[in-house]
Amino acid sequence: MQLYVDSANIADIRHAASLGMISGVTTNPSLLAKEDPSIDIKALILDIHKTVGGHLSVEVVSTDTAGMLREADEILSWFPEATIKIPMIPAGLSAVKELARQQVPTNVTLIFSAAQALAANNAGATYVSLFLGRLDDVSTDGMRAVEDTCEIWDVHGLESQIIAASIRHPIHVLQCAKAGAHIATVPYKVLMQMLKHPLTDSGLQSFLNDYEKMKAEKEKLSA
Ligand code: E4P
Repeated sequence: MQLYVDSANIADIRHAASLGMISGVTTNPSLLAKEDPSIDIKALILDIHKTVGGHLSVEVVSTDTAGMLREADEILSWFPEATIKIPMIPAGLSAVKELARQQVPTNVTLIFSAAQALAANNAGATYVSLFLGRLDDVSTDGMRAVEDTCEIWDVHGLESQIIAASIRHPIHVLQCAKAGAHIATVPYKVLMQMLKHPLTDSGLQSFLNDYEKMKAEKEKLSA
């Protein structure tokens, strides 16, 4: 399962990319709004694109099809490899249908059920983003929606790539990988949590201590 970082913070994205563990980035208006308001959005997006080089989803903010298509054109004029992130609303599906006709990749976002994912797939979405953490937040089993979607994809051999989104912790990542999601888009903090294990830290510390002890003994012997 591929990992993307779900962030608009260039320092975090640079670090995650330097570790070789991510193959793409997803952004959204809320993530962009967390960054310094003086930042030029186009420059930031191009910097992220240059840093990671792989998938980069950039979200539109229009709620009508024509507006979404205008924004898609603008984003594509920044860099033609952009994936256009479109909300899961009827006007969004019409935009997806048109962008698919133009062979522009789309990522349908704010999907909370397998039925929505199926509709987005049929409209021609390249990616469908299922938000599991936000479902968990309202006492609904987010993993169940991911599992249902993966099952339907297996049965019918559907084409869109399933992105598990709104990930809250490393167990979500594991569960999505087991369910068969193609991609998980993961906040930087959770990517870092995935790397940590107390036995790795204590194991490394004792290797280093033992090495220093051995070195000191060898130096004593050769003195
Ligand atoms: C997906 O592409 C979204 O950017 C993201 O996963 C939303 O997650 P949140 O629920 O943590 O805001």
